[in-house]
Amino acid sequence: MEAYRAVVDKRDQRVYLSKPIPADALRRILQAARMTGSSKNREPNRLVVVSERAGVRALGALSPWGKWLADAAAVIVIAQVEAHEFDAGRCAQSMMVAAWADGIGSCPAHLPEADVARLLGIPDGVHVNRVIGFGYVDPARAAPPKSVARKRSPLEELVHRERW
Ligand SMILES: Cc1cc2nc3c(=O)[nH]c(=O)nc-3n(C[C@H](O)[C@H](O)[C@H](O)COP(=O)(O)O)c2cc1C
Repeated sequence: MEAYRAVVDKRDQRVYLSKPIPADALRRILQAARMTGSSKNREPNRLVVVSERAGVRALGALSPWGKWLADAAAVIVIAQVEAHEFDAGRCAQSMMVAAWADGIGSCPAHLPEADVARLLGIPDGVHVNRVIGFGYVDPARAAPPKSVARKRSPLEELVHRERW
């Protein structure tokens, strides 16, 4: 898949097939995270990969907005040894775009940080940022819900040229 298409066509997918992600595809996703730049190259991100069913389901039970995570093939938690929102976001998008280029859908979610830390044994002082569910997408249910059907504001509204 062309890089531009992988970026522009990626949409967040919350319905997954019960098909595991092969180890090499998962490794490519993690490599995409690893190679993403970070502020001063401090590499604050740590990744907790959860793919055993009990763990995935337990994560899905932590928030009403993350129930769909229960059916993900894998959930990756971005946890940071130094809190840095921009670096977490870059890492998240790298993983999601790399996954999409391999035909794997994904969606980020915000779960209660303390509950995630308790469940996964993430130590004090390590900041839980966001989690991302990954999985192959059911083609019959791939279309976005009409309510959010890839609405984006027009460029004219988002972009200021030369000055605000
Ligand atoms: C930081 C962040 C947190 C998010 N948290 C959730 C969440 O908890 N639950 C959820 O269903 N979607 C969550 N989303 C997904 C957004 O709803 C999604 O990006 C938006 O609707 C655009 O979707 P689209 O790319 O499919 O158009 C989150 C997205 C971001 C960037």
